[in-house]
Amino acid sequence: MSYRFALTLFALIFSFGQPESRAQSTVPARALKDSAKFPIGVALNVGNAPGDMADIREIAALINAQFNSIVAENGMKMRFLHPAIDTYDFAAADALADYARTHGMILHGHALIWHHDYQLPVWMKNYQGDWQAMLRDHVQQICQHFAGKVKSWDVVNEAIDNKHPKQYRATLFLEKLGPAYIEQAFIAAHEADPAAVLYYNDFNMESKADKLQFMLDMVDDFQRRHIPLHGIGFQMHVSVDSPAIAQIKTALQAVAARGLKVRISELDVSLNQQQRAASLDPALAQLQKARYREIVSAYVQSVSPAQRGGITFWGLLDKDSWLLDGKPYPDWPLLFDDKGQTKPAYFGVLEGLKE
Ligand code: XIL
Repeated sequence: MSYRFALTLFALIFSFGQPESRAQSTVPARALKDSAKFPIGVALNVGNAPGDMADIREIAALINAQFNSIVAENGMKMRFLHPAIDTYDFAAADALADYARTHGMILHGHALIWHHDYQLPVWMKNYQGDWQAMLRDHVQQICQHFAGKVKSWDVVNEAIDNKHPKQYRATLFLEKLGPAYIEQAFIAAHEADPAAVLYYNDFNMESKADKLQFMLDMVDDFQRRHIPLHGIGFQMHVSVDSPAIAQIKTALQAVAARGLKVRISELDVSLNQQQRAASLDPALAQLQKARYREIVSAYVQSVSPAQRGGITFWGLLDKDSWLLDGKPYPDWPLLFDDKGQTKPAYFGVLEGLKE
């Protein structure tokens, strides 16, 4: 009898004598991380209050049981890490890195360059000097600091225009440096931490054929010119019925065919964009389960084991999902309900992992 088997048997026998503690447990028998042969991650919304890990402590048991990879949902974005031109604030992110190390988890870094107005440091918006040198320094200070702690980075986030997906997005970076800022960021990151796996991350690349093609053209160009880009992150903020699973597979396969790593980097499945539901009824929950299952299964089928950078869910509990921010209607996009109980969606993921 193997040690592991003996342990399981012991746990089983013991649990029969403990009906109450079993009933109260929020952790199902088979954890996500143990069911997958690639990293299973979750975004944690810590870091806006520097150094404060309290919100993690409340949900730590669930995180530790289910996930082996974490990412800061906000706390490692530009404005938090680099609040003034000569000031880097690594305290909160260091605490997250410590947490990852202590619990044997991967820390994925998100994101070195992102145009979003609320995330651009104010000083950067007003910067008048040498933009190429400034961005290079930004990328390198951060990558050097986290070398050995952050395994992979979203180096550039959302650089392709979403409304006119045949062009780069009109950002401050594009205005100052042209599209070259993207490759410059990858080169700078690679120099600063040659071991880090470097991703380009974006959304709607599975739903918009033009956007997918534009990204693939960028990848092909980078590969021809040996720019150190190692993978593509598909954010995958999808709804229960769109985009079609065939489109998702096409997109994953196109990147896999180029030999790159593929992450599903910010997965959530919104149920209520039509604003029709007042509560999560069983029928909706089953639809969501099937959706999670087909996405996870598409990933496993489309991306070879060596190319799987993993799947990260964009939040843990429904109530904390960014999709609820400022919305007058409810939604339930994640795998765990507000109390940390598994939803059918959770079992959809487990089933998808088996396929
Ligand atoms: C979101 C966070 O989840 C929110 O808490 C925050 O208010 C805005 O940013 N694409 C990304 C993520 O790359 O960084 C975004 O995260 C969601 C969309």
